[in-house]
Amino acid sequence: MKSEELFKESKKFLPGGVNSPVRAYKPYPFFAEYAKGSKIVDVDGKSYLDYCLAYGPMVLGHANPDVMAEVIAQLKKGSAYGVPTENEIELAKLVVKKVPCAEMVRFVNSGTEATMSAIRLARAATGKKKIIKFEGAYHGAHDYVLVKSGSGAAGLPDSPGVPDETTKNTILIPFNNEDAIVDIIKTEGESIAAIIVEPIMGNIGIIPPKDKYLEFLRDITVENGIILIFDEVITGFRISEGGAQEYFGVTPDLVTFGKILGGGFPIGAISGKKELMEMLAPSGNVYQAGTFNGNPISITAGLATLKQLNESFYSSMNTKGDILRKGIQDILDVHNLDYQVAGLSSMFQIYFTESEVWNYEDAKTADTEKFNTFFQTLLNKGIFIPPSQFECCFLSKMHDDTDIQNTLDIIGEAIKTIKDI
Ligand SMILES: Cc1ncc(COP(=O)(O)O)c(C=O)c1O
Repeated sequence: MKSEELFKESKKFLPGGVNSPVRAYKPYPFFAEYAKGSKIVDVDGKSYLDYCLAYGPMVLGHANPDVMAEVIAQLKKGSAYGVPTENEIELAKLVVKKVPCAEMVRFVNSGTEATMSAIRLARAATGKKKIIKFEGAYHGAHDYVLVKSGSGAAGLPDSPGVPDETTKNTILIPFNNEDAIVDIIKTEGESIAAIIVEPIMGNIGIIPPKDKYLEFLRDITVENGIILIFDEVITGFRISEGGAQEYFGVTPDLVTFGKILGGGFPIGAISGKKELMEMLAPSGNVYQAGTFNGNPISITAGLATLKQLNESFYSSMNTKGDILRKGIQDILDVHNLDYQVAGLSSMFQIYFTESEVWNYEDAKTADTEKFNTFFQTLLNKGIFIPPSQFECCFLSKMHDDTDIQNTLDIIGEAIKTIKDI
């Protein structure tokens, strides 16, 4: 098996054999040869129906012809300039048009950079140091937020190398719990610059906000002069044109993006109210910079992607998601299993637990051994989902009815293999 050999070789040169921890599942990850539409094909020639979709960006499926054509045309004109391009304005205009809180945009290179800069901006704007983050939320791999994180880090101790001095200003709160916020604001409200929240938690499985919870966050932040940051690196351009803020009708002060915004190429962005955004250098003095910020390839791919996302696109994605989740639920019901089918729109996950999942502690009751067997069975049968209970699965435009029916058939078989664990 070529993937197995490549992984052995890879471990000699890349720590753990991969360049991002969640990719290293046992016994070895498959190595990609190419991907097209809803499928990804490995170096051994095996094809998988892809519900990982590069952890979210490939909402149009892999190698979308329009995106590829625009990118190839741009590549011929050069791949990085270090000076501005007109397309940066075009993409910013599109973001402003689609996203309720967006008045200006700063393009960066990853979701990690976006949340780091958004937090710096919130601290500068308020003159305060502390931030509230939710247990199990993942906002990237930088020090301010690497405390009880979700994603591949779920269940691991916080990372060595992150100084206490940095994280002492990060207050951890359980998601969907109003009292916890009220209590902390009573004692520490004066020093809190921002609340950063994934409006739908997507790095600890999928946890939706309880009814009116986001409204509650909006109200309490306004009352206390705290900046509300929605981290929409996953939900942005995925669950509606305007992301979770449009979907739930709650407008934050700042938003961070990544993934879909780059149309399959590296990107991140910070956006929000003009008075805040203009504090960024060079119009203001809050430092933010990057050699590849606004990279013409990522911007071109993002523009070609966002242009294809409209109301009818989201309505069809929602329908597909509903059919898949309902189908999974029916299978679990037949087997009389108490698992939770989570997700909305084109996001889904199964928690192998009988308790409802509303926060990190609930999610951690999931049986990861069962999940791992489920994952391996799906993989053997040609379905690729992210290899962790604490990630989420995605649909793309290219997943058709046949794909979904095949998936349900295979899930039906896979469930039998884990029933007695
Ligand atoms: C909600 C959220 N924020 C931030 C990030 C970090 O983005 P990136 O991996 O592009 O640095 C991620 C990555 O998965 C994410 O899901």
